[in-house]
Amino acid sequence: MRAVVLLLLVASACAEVYDRCELARILKANGMDGYWGISLANWMCLAEWESHYNTDAIHHDSDGSTDYGIFQINSRWWCNDGHSVTSNACGISCSELLNPNLSVAIECAKRVVRDPNGISAWVAWRTHCQGQDLSSYVAGCGV
Ligand SMILES: *[C@@H]1O[C@H](CO)[C@@H](O)[C@H](O)[C@H]1NC(C)=O
Repeated sequence: MRAVVLLLLVASACAEVYDRCELARILKANGMDGYWGISLANWMCLAEWESHYNTDAIHHDSDGSTDYGIFQINSRWWCNDGHSVTSNACGISCSELLNPNLSVAIECAKRVVRDPNGISAWVAWRTHCQGQDLSSYVAGCGV
């Protein structure tokens, strides 16, 4: 029993996989619904396909850069991971994008969509969300 509790504590300190509706409520409470004209369902679809709502998600890209966190934000342009060339437009360390507290990731995602490419910056959004019926991503969440 003690071992189980300890394991749970360790897991929750390192990573958080959000429940769909829990994430929808957090994004909404942080002003994402309608931000830069982008609906909550679009943000949810993007997060589902980029990270499966896992704040710990990390993917290495072929150009040597890395994508971090729930929105898979890239080190080439948006954050500094200390070992690759970056514009660091969000002015943050990439590891901050892995925090279960989503404040930094949300602010950085807002910065990304203010760029001319907008939400099209996310390949997974173009592939899985653009032009689709996205109502299922927020259905039943009361948001
Ligand atoms: C992150 O933590 C700060 C300070 O505790 C809190 O004010 C903020 O609401 C949290 N952000 C989210 C998205 O939970």
